[in-house]
Amino acid sequence: MIGLKDKIANSIIDFLKQNNIDAKKEDILFMFKKPEKLEFGDIAFPVFRYAKDFRKPPVEIAEQVKGFFEANPLKEIEKIEVINGYVNFHISPQWMFEKLVKEFEEKGEDFYKSDVLKGKTFVVEFSSPNIAKPFSIGHLRSTVIGNFLRNLLKSLGANVIGINHIGDWGTQFGKLIVAFKLWGNEEELEKDPVKYMLSLYVRFHKEAEENPSLEDKAREAFLNLEKGSEEERKLWEKFRTLSLKEFEKTYKRLNVHFDKVLGEAFYSDKIDRVVKILEEKGLLEESENALVVKLDDYNMPPCLIKKSDGATLYATRDIAAAIYRKETFDFDRMFYVVGSEQKLHFKQFFKVLELAGFEWAKDMEHIDFGLYRFKDGKMSTRKGRVILLEEVLDEAVNRIKEIMNEKNPDLTEEERENVSEILGTGAIIFNDLKNDRIKDVQFSWDEVLNFEGESGPYISYSFVRCKGIFRKAEGIEESGKYTATHESEIALIKKLFEFKDIMLSAYNNRKSHFIANYLLDLTKSFTTFYHNCRVVGEDKGISSFRKMLVKLTMNTLKAGADILGMRLPDRM
Ligand code: ARG
Repeated sequence: MIGLKDKIANSIIDFLKQNNIDAKKEDILFMFKKPEKLEFGDIAFPVFRYAKDFRKPPVEIAEQVKGFFEANPLKEIEKIEVINGYVNFHISPQWMFEKLVKEFEEKGEDFYKSDVLKGKTFVVEFSSPNIAKPFSIGHLRSTVIGNFLRNLLKSLGANVIGINHIGDWGTQFGKLIVAFKLWGNEEELEKDPVKYMLSLYVRFHKEAEENPSLEDKAREAFLNLEKGSEEERKLWEKFRTLSLKEFEKTYKRLNVHFDKVLGEAFYSDKIDRVVKILEEKGLLEESENALVVKLDDYNMPPCLIKKSDGATLYATRDIAAAIYRKETFDFDRMFYVVGSEQKLHFKQFFKVLELAGFEWAKDMEHIDFGLYRFKDGKMSTRKGRVILLEEVLDEAVNRIKEIMNEKNPDLTEEERENVSEILGTGAIIFNDLKNDRIKDVQFSWDEVLNFEGESGPYISYSFVRCKGIFRKAEGIEESGKYTATHESEIALIKKLFEFKDIMLSAYNNRKSHFIANYLLDLTKSFTTFYHNCRVVGEDKGISSFRKMLVKLTMNTLKAGADILGMRLPDRM
């Protein structure tokens, strides 16, 4: 729609010029609205602001605009209507359809890709779980939102570096090292690494209550680690490798990809430089046994840079990481996909970078999000412990398996396993991404798995239905000749045509629910079409045209799901 909106705006500018009014294209484009209902057209242009210039009521001005377009017609416009002070443009569905088909023929499966962001480099930091701890549902959001952004930016032609900023450094590893040395057992560790490490933590905290000297030992162990002591380093490396191996399984299930896995530890030798820079800028001050950057002037608590014992801190590693990434990737923009609870942390270290004179600090953005809230009893924090992502995924897959047994007992055992895995993980991904990320996610199994509701399986089901029709219509050749006979065909074409605009809105807002909701709408339009229009068994021309519509729907569903990072089954 973007090119067409430009064209319409140009005509409006010409019209205004004839009436001695100067207008800028951005302003006109900004004024365009989407009519509330499909029957009111596709683009509405309000003329109220020109009432003064024309000294006429808006309806009359709108009529004049309409007259101008009738005298200078655009082939893309089928009809123009004046509704109160609006000029409503009805775009020709034939033109839309032909444009879609042409694009599809030229670019194939890549039809939705564009080069809007060509030449731009984005760093997207996401997921970033902490090693030696289980992958909790809390890290799911960052993982799927970040993966979505990485996919979307790539589709828009950007150069994207997705980074997993693993939490693999900090005093907690001192604790783990001490605990392992005291009570650890190699065999147990290898058997179920992450669970075992977690149990060691728990034991450490319990025993430290009785014996506070353990805390000192832990601090010492972390300092040794920072200094590069062999013994501590070796243990740490083992913890890290074993954790990453487990995370890898989860990433595979979630269809998530990174370009770089660079943990916090990677920056431990880049801290001195940060301290030096901040010192030179006169930003560092002593406060309560630590070096800090005071941020009183900006209504924020001080940013902690270094503890008195020399141990580095979370924020310092973030400052070092930002500088490293700018120097290494020369990004135009950097996104940090991290929960809203860390808002202050990001504001603080962004400010420190700005104060230190890094003008690119303005190019960093915290992409924040809300929490999961569990409605149904079953998944609520059992015995008060964290909810593990693997458990949620397994539960989704198992529930789908049961539904599959009922709905489609014909599937082979292998197919059922396969389809359930795709649908179950996809359901969890979709359920997350369909929400405005700022809001909390109300998690309810009924909603997540509802095959007829606003869910991943609902999208998958339509996709599979498209595939089914396509198979049944095998002998029919799909055709780009427009022969719409039913309003549901037109509604479907208009929906299909929206996809690229939606991608842009999703990018401009950095929000996945634009795409997810679009896919739900598309599925609804397709379902209406499906119930009203037969593909097989009609006149050859009609069948061929409808088969093309099915093909376009199938590929758009696939493209949207790809951007969300959700796999789709071929059968179910
Ligand atoms: N590992 C951290 C956590 O789990 C998240 C890291 C966020 N990214 C960052 N650059 N600070 O809380």
